[in-house]
Amino acid sequence: MNPVAFDRVDAYDPGYLVVHDGRIESIGSADPRPQFPDAEFLDFNGDAILPGFVDTHVHLPQFAIMGLGSESLLDWLDRLTYPEEARFSDPEYARLISESFFDALLANGTTCASVYCSIHEHATDIAFEAARSRGIRAFIGKAMMDRHAPPPLLEDTGEAVDASIRLHEKWDGANGGRLRYVFTPRFAGSCSMELMQRTGNAAKERNAFIQTHLSENKAEVDWIRSLFPERSSYTDVYDFAGLLGRRTIVAHCIHLSNGEIGRLSETETNIAFCPYSNRTLRSGVMPFARLRDAGLKVGLGSDVSGGPSLSMFRQMGEASNSTWMSPRSALYLATLGGAEALNVADRTGNFAPGKDADFVIVDHRRTDPIPGKGAYNSPDHVLSRLCYRADSDCIRDVYLTGHRV
Ligand code: GUN
Ligand code: ZN
Repeated sequence: MNPVAFDRVDAYDPGYLVVHDGRIESIGSADPRPQFPDAEFLDFNGDAILPGFVDTHVHLPQFAIMGLGSESLLDWLDRLTYPEEARFSDPEYARLISESFFDALLANGTTCASVYCSIHEHATDIAFEAARSRGIRAFIGKAMMDRHAPPPLLEDTGEAVDASIRLHEKWDGANGGRLRYVFTPRFAGSCSMELMQRTGNAAKERNAFIQTHLSENKAEVDWIRSLFPERSSYTDVYDFAGLLGRRTIVAHCIHLSNGEIGRLSETETNIAFCPYSNRTLRSGVMPFARLRDAGLKVGLGSDVSGGPSLSMFRQMGEASNSTWMSPRSALYLATLGGAEALNVADRTGNFAPGKDADFVIVDHRRTDPIPGKGAYNSPDHVLSRLCYRADSDCIRDVYLTGHRV
């Protein structure tokens, strides 16, 4: 199945995917073996082949608390999330979770992710090492926080910027460009204006990526207004700091005025839509149609552990149920849409020739109530069941640059 546009998935049955040198060579229904008599041939025996999933927003140091807590955002941060993230001062713990986290991403078929780490420089280093050894494509950033957090998670403003610059120098473009550094001012609640402005400048000088949270929860929005009374909106806080732009991705975007959406559109800022998290933390429903109509690029994010699952199938079902988008559109957001929002659609997101051969083998029959004997097997039937019924147990194999991992 090849997602090619917002409401279009091209399906081939039989389907042949030709991979050469780690890249997609071609895709189609005609048997290509006569053209490539010496090529290795793998038969996936009726499984579906999908592009690897793109998770545009996920927190590595929240992996251990996935599925815990359903109170609203600010209470959940204080009670559960910040204490867990403080544990990453211990390098051994950081390594254990980092390795488990990237293994779990791959086991869910996610081959590209934009990842928040804790504030710790060494723990972010360890996360990059774990990503590099697995070959996954990842944007990774050290969270920056210089106020309104427990003391173990607070940093000096200058040190937060300097550590991020060191990590950018060390890791941005590593592993043949599959690893990118992303400047990560956590959100306006935990960052002073000075920190956000210095981050905006550092990122601009390097043409670097930025990720943060925006307008997730009503109490949060009120709090940000009280912290920055001179700014006209939450979006204006980031705009004033120089954080918006085509290399920036902001998560949630639930409670926004038309003026704020207009400004996100003018600056070509990208959106991480996190529907499962939005429901679990009782945040609200993102106004998907308004954002898309404004021309914004939108991808899907698990937001683990605001969301309780790394499975992009589960995010697709939540996206469809909360906004009434079709399963085709949900698959697009989970793959090519996410790649576009992260500026990597030239390398991943679907099976266009020349892109990296990052793909997943999906046992869709597990979602059929009568496996192997069901009568509802058209591509749209299969995709619908994947959207509403599939989970990680349907992922049979994952390939990165043509190699089975
Ligand atoms: N806002 C600030 N930090 C976080 C976080 O870790 N998760 C979510 N969902 N929202 C946030
Ligand atoms: Zn988040």
